[in-house]
Amino acid sequence: MVSAENQASAKTTQRTAVIVVAAGSGTRLGYGVPKALVPLKGRSLLEHALDNIARTRCAGEVIVVLPPGDTELARLCASHPLAPLLVPGGSTRNDSVRAGLSKMGPGTENVLIHDAARCLTPPDVFDAVAAALADGAKAVIPVLPVVDTIKTVSQDPGEVHPHVTGTPARESLRAVQTPQGFHAPTLIAAHAQADGWDKVTAEAITDDAMLMEMLGERVSTVPGSPAALKITTPTDLLLAKFLLATNPTEGTPVNQPDEQIPAQPVPLIIPRTGIGIDVHAVADASEPREMWLAGLHFPGVQGLSGHSDGDAVAHAACDALFSAAGIGDLGTHFGTDRPEYAGASGTTLLAEAARLVRAAGFEIGNVAVQFVGRRPKFAARRLEADAVLSEAAGAPVTVTATTSDGLGYEGTGEGLTAYATALVYSVQR
Ligand code: CTP
Ligand code: MG
Repeated sequence: MVSAENQASAKTTQRTAVIVVAAGSGTRLGYGVPKALVPLKGRSLLEHALDNIARTRCAGEVIVVLPPGDTELARLCASHPLAPLLVPGGSTRNDSVRAGLSKMGPGTENVLIHDAARCLTPPDVFDAVAAALADGAKAVIPVLPVVDTIKTVSQDPGEVHPHVTGTPARESLRAVQTPQGFHAPTLIAAHAQADGWDKVTAEAITDDAMLMEMLGERVSTVPGSPAALKITTPTDLLLAKFLLATNPTEGTPVNQPDEQIPAQPVPLIIPRTGIGIDVHAVADASEPREMWLAGLHFPGVQGLSGHSDGDAVAHAACDALFSAAGIGDLGTHFGTDRPEYAGASGTTLLAEAARLVRAAGFEIGNVAVQFVGRRPKFAARRLEADAVLSEAAGAPVTVTATTSDGLGYEGTGEGLTAYATALVYSVQR
């Protein structure tokens, strides 16, 4: 048990450095900038991490490991009240940790290694780790119980679906967070020892605690915090935004504790919307055609003209999907260079459009289509249309219909217009 007295004394009696590793590229978050620079409630993830560290009792020297070549994060660090020491990182997290360790002042007793990606880790967690070190532990990690049942799996040669090899007892499992705290000389020695290890062994080391375990050091645990989640994917960023919104003291810059935070745009991962419009003339009476619309056949109604089945609703839905994903339009994907789609049905085109959108890294939220026209009479078949198109897209598609009060080509029955919107969101596959 960590006493309050020990916690309070951690700062005064021991030299504790905090190394924030922020040199990753944030590939899975997909912002195209280093993850530490991604904004959350108007402040970068790294600034949030520094704000929380500034509120700890234990942090002495603070070192931030930045992406090599970065200037933007360095500028933010320079204007932060902590004024951390900066050092360029390496190509792996392990290399970045080493870069940070190399900058640590002589005589540092304990060091806390922290992921900038866990930017909302509360100050108490840092202090609890430092306090356990002050109590004599050589290595301390914050952990949370695991809620899922965890399986180990293996894949035999030629096996399509990996098979389960075991189910570790959940009570003994913990999810690990940062900061991970270490007796500094012991961690430096451990890294020095690992220097000579072969590449495969070295790459298997995913955190510093593991390194200590491999060298036979006892690693202690303290309770972590749900707020210390690692922001890895867009969903994590949304969760972090939610945590900030439900805890108004979080995310307050340390240098303006009493000031109102100025309203900022919140550039999180925002779903993308798209629009698609398709107009088809009703075929001339001299040229009888079947009416296909919204994936359905309407017997006895003169159909729409066009090379395909003229399904304006399905075509508008396809264009809205392409527009949302930013991957062109119907002409781009079903043009003359894809003759296999000449004359294809609306549902075939919609299914292929949905596949292309997913292949581009998106999932589909929904597609909504409204068509304006006198024929076909639609109300009785609306649910059927929704079902057919949703099946084709693999996502909810809803269709509504209206008339134009007799105005224009839709009013005279010469043609109809379909308007579609689609919502897609970026996903990690
Ligand atoms: N990190 C680092 N140097 C690296 C790789 C990672 O300092 N070469 C840091 C990241 O900045 C992050 C932490 O280690 O704070 C955990 O890594 P992760 O969550 O994987 O972040 P990224 O590597 O940036 O993300 P991704 O793997 O999606 O590219
Ligand atoms: Mg990474």
